[in-house]
Amino acid sequence: MKEQLERAEQGVAALLAERNERWYPTFHIAAKAGWINDPNGLSYFNGRYQVYFQHHPFGTQWGPMHWGHVSSEDLVTWRREPIAMAPSIEADRDGVFSGSAVVGDDGKLYAYYTGHRWRNGINEDEGNLQVQCLATSQDGLTFEKQGVLVECPEGLLHFRDPKVWRMGDTWYMVFGACSADKRGQVWGYTSTDMLNWEFDRVIFQDPNPDAYMLECPDMFPLGDKWVIFYCPMGPKKNGYEARNGHNAGYVVGTWAPGGVFEQLTDFRPIDWGHQFYAPQTFESPDGRRIAYGWLGSFTIPVATQEADGWCGQLTVPRELSLDADNHLWARPIDELTRLRTETTDFGAFELDANQDKLLVADGQAVEIELEVDLAATTSERVGLNVHKTADGRATFVCYDDLAGRVTIDRRDTGHGDRGYRSAPYSGGDILKLRVLVDRGSVEVFVNDGEETLTSFSFPCEGARAVELTSESGTIAVNSLVVHQLGTIWAEPDR
Ligand code: FRU
Repeated sequence: MKEQLERAEQGVAALLAERNERWYPTFHIAAKAGWINDPNGLSYFNGRYQVYFQHHPFGTQWGPMHWGHVSSEDLVTWRREPIAMAPSIEADRDGVFSGSAVVGDDGKLYAYYTGHRWRNGINEDEGNLQVQCLATSQDGLTFEKQGVLVECPEGLLHFRDPKVWRMGDTWYMVFGACSADKRGQVWGYTSTDMLNWEFDRVIFQDPNPDAYMLECPDMFPLGDKWVIFYCPMGPKKNGYEARNGHNAGYVVGTWAPGGVFEQLTDFRPIDWGHQFYAPQTFESPDGRRIAYGWLGSFTIPVATQEADGWCGQLTVPRELSLDADNHLWARPIDELTRLRTETTDFGAFELDANQDKLLVADGQAVEIELEVDLAATTSERVGLNVHKTADGRATFVCYDDLAGRVTIDRRDTGHGDRGYRSAPYSGGDILKLRVLVDRGSVEVFVNDGEETLTSFSFPCEGARAVELTSESGTIAVNSLVVHQLGTIWAEPDR
């Protein structure tokens, strides 16, 4: 694989030389240059957090998949690592697809991934062949491919994205499959030695008959329940849901080894924004369930693809929990507060009707924490203009009191795809919005993570202001704090 990896590094170096910084993230993981999609192999190994990701090092479009790599001691400051895997064996000839990593008793990191081949060697026209493979590593940096562990039954078109975990002496693997009758399923395998895997059962089938494949399933316990994250291919747009080309969601249920998953809830979006796909979770050493999602798009051209030399980033890491109603909560991990550099505290105040209050003159990387007393608020929308440039263009984040929803509206965003996305608001007089604005994205956490919205936002040139805005009524602000955020990178890229 050495040669392929050297060539991949050269690909990245060529793109990096031309990288445009205007929208390149400062506190989100992205490749130095080139394309990325799904987070892969999330793990804690050799005293560091390891984050790998689907990576195409030769361009800003999806292409033959490699595993890019970064690592961190604390989930806050990250080090670039060499590209970890490239297509190099017959089974992964056309792509080292998504997968997960776990630490074996022998102290090695085991990376389970899908080896991908186009049957015709070029594209999907004659279908594909996907198999589950293993690569092991002593240091998390260089991997030795061990070949194919799970072959694809004859005739199945989609068969990918292994997620592995351990319970007692048994290792469990789940991945997504398209059954012979075109239903989206999660298949389960077990192993006692991490090498020999036996088919256990179809653990879960999406009740939605439109879903023909479940990409990137992740199955994990939260409290006394089990959660399955998955990304169904096929479902139609439905009101505010399934609006993106690709959509990620979850179901909650019960499960015990040797059984099927008993579903207790309907499928719900994990995040309501334009860009949130293929999330993967892992358990941190202190027992938290942490997720990263991919902030990107397969279907809609991304503004950075034209001339900026990079495309796609990961979300900030989110700590997950379930409430008594089996509703998933996701909030930025506590460590992220360490990125804060300067803080401005606006205290409590009332914003008069039809006002725009400037909070930050140039917010390249900022976090806004807003708490509003809705009982004392008459404004139709509680708005935040972010990425607002001198020409008046901005991305609008708001609580809409008429609709009872929280929205990211890109009608007037500087560049890229427009449109809006909207999450339900569960009610309650105290509205909390925590908004993370990076150079090319916005992430909104409603009421400490009860709902989230994640979207690209590519502003125009010049300073990027943040404003609080009221409409036809007043806003009763209980508290408002704005933090400037520093970078996650230990070293500059160039
Ligand atoms: C999801 C996905 C996976 C696949 C990978 C390929 O985004 O399509 O199913 O393994 O991306 O890059």
